[in-house]
Amino acid sequence: MTDKTQSIHGQWSSRFAFILAATGSAVGLGNIWKFPYITGENGGGAFVLVYLMCVAALGIPIMIAEIMMGRRGRQSPINTMQTLAEESKADPRWHYLGWSGMIAGFLILAYYSVIAGWAMAYIVKAFFGDFINSSPEEIQRLFQNLMDNPVQQIFWHTLFMYATMAFVMRGVQGGLEKAVRFLMPALFVILILLVAYAMTTGAYEQGVTFLFNPDFSKIDGDAVLTAMGHAFFTLSLGMGAIMVYGSYLPAHISIAKTTFFIAGADTVVALLAGIAIFPLVFANQLEASAGPGLIFQTLPLAFGHMAGGWLFGILFFVLLFFAALSSSISLIEPAVAWLVENKDIERHQACAWSGAACWLLGVGVVFSFNIWSDLKLFDKNLFELLDYLTANLMLPLGGMAIAIFAGWMMKSSLAQQELEIPEQGFQAWHFLIKYVSPTAVFLVFLHVLGVL
Ligand code: PHE
Repeated sequence: MTDKTQSIHGQWSSRFAFILAATGSAVGLGNIWKFPYITGENGGGAFVLVYLMCVAALGIPIMIAEIMMGRRGRQSPINTMQTLAEESKADPRWHYLGWSGMIAGFLILAYYSVIAGWAMAYIVKAFFGDFINSSPEEIQRLFQNLMDNPVQQIFWHTLFMYATMAFVMRGVQGGLEKAVRFLMPALFVILILLVAYAMTTGAYEQGVTFLFNPDFSKIDGDAVLTAMGHAFFTLSLGMGAIMVYGSYLPAHISIAKTTFFIAGADTVVALLAGIAIFPLVFANQLEASAGPGLIFQTLPLAFGHMAGGWLFGILFFVLLFFAALSSSISLIEPAVAWLVENKDIERHQACAWSGAACWLLGVGVVFSFNIWSDLKLFDKNLFELLDYLTANLMLPLGGMAIAIFAGWMMKSSLAQQELEIPEQGFQAWHFLIKYVSPTAVFLVFLHVLGVL
């Protein structure tokens, strides 16, 4: 058993460091790559509204719960769940929640790394001026060539996985804490710049209308599930990433305030990405529902035609790479922390093993975009299957279980003591986590299953 004041893995140097790391985990491909393309696939406004409601009603209370539980347990999510269950005299099987989270993180990282690899490939394309004055068709061909080339994708995927493990190896306070400090604001500035460019395309209003004008006839049960799943995905919730980061949080730092900041920043980045991309889609008669290639087929058009686009293109993909990196390290941290705690191996060995296994699955994901693209289960290729299984099923179910544990199993006096928020705020949170969050997830699942 570890002592209660600090994790054996170390601790964040300050509240600010934790905010950076947690925001770094939340802001990533989910905001800039995934949010726009799933919004495009699901008809826009109504989907965005459901997503925003899920962030508010589920994301914020569950993030508070995860950080709080992590800090109380001070270990990897699996062992934290075990400790917390013992402490509250709950069923020890609650530690399986840690397991499912660890597996979800592993499965997500396998495809996350492949997509981050695309972003790295695009740094080079931007550098060599491949976007300059290109037509939409040329930009599409550029992306298709990458998709058709497994060797190139594996190369970048390998590099990204290597970078991830190199950072994870250095532990809690390694270089990333410092890097994220200026990368996050820089990404924000470039997004604003892209939004400004979007205003010049002539289709700005159309793009914004698409994003914010809800038409509920455009969404069905599956779209609602995708929106809810994305709220968990984008906030890194439901799988222990934020829990393990919480376990490195020094005592007496306000969890609630920090959560509002992280969720707010995450949402703003996603919306900015959407506002930058959809005007480009409409101005160039592209398909909003183009799928995972959407940002790679739209943003290069902006870089190819705007003043200073060469430099901004490089910068954007470099920043996207770092945003992905600060997320990917949190996907694998629960597994690494658990291996170190339970298997009596060094941190670098834990990194090597988990990274290698994840890399291998990622190679399968690369193939799902070319040589295995016809290999389908439930009408989904490997990439789509992993994404659906994790984002739409494992994360919401994990989040629901976390809410149930925090609301029903954990003694509320313990939660209150850990959270240190005024009585009224605590009561509001407790009500949300106890009744609202679990019920909402449950209802969405009933709806998808056709029961409701
Ligand atoms: N939140 C990250 C993103 O939006 C992805 C992620 C999911 C990270 C789950 C950690 C855990 O890109």
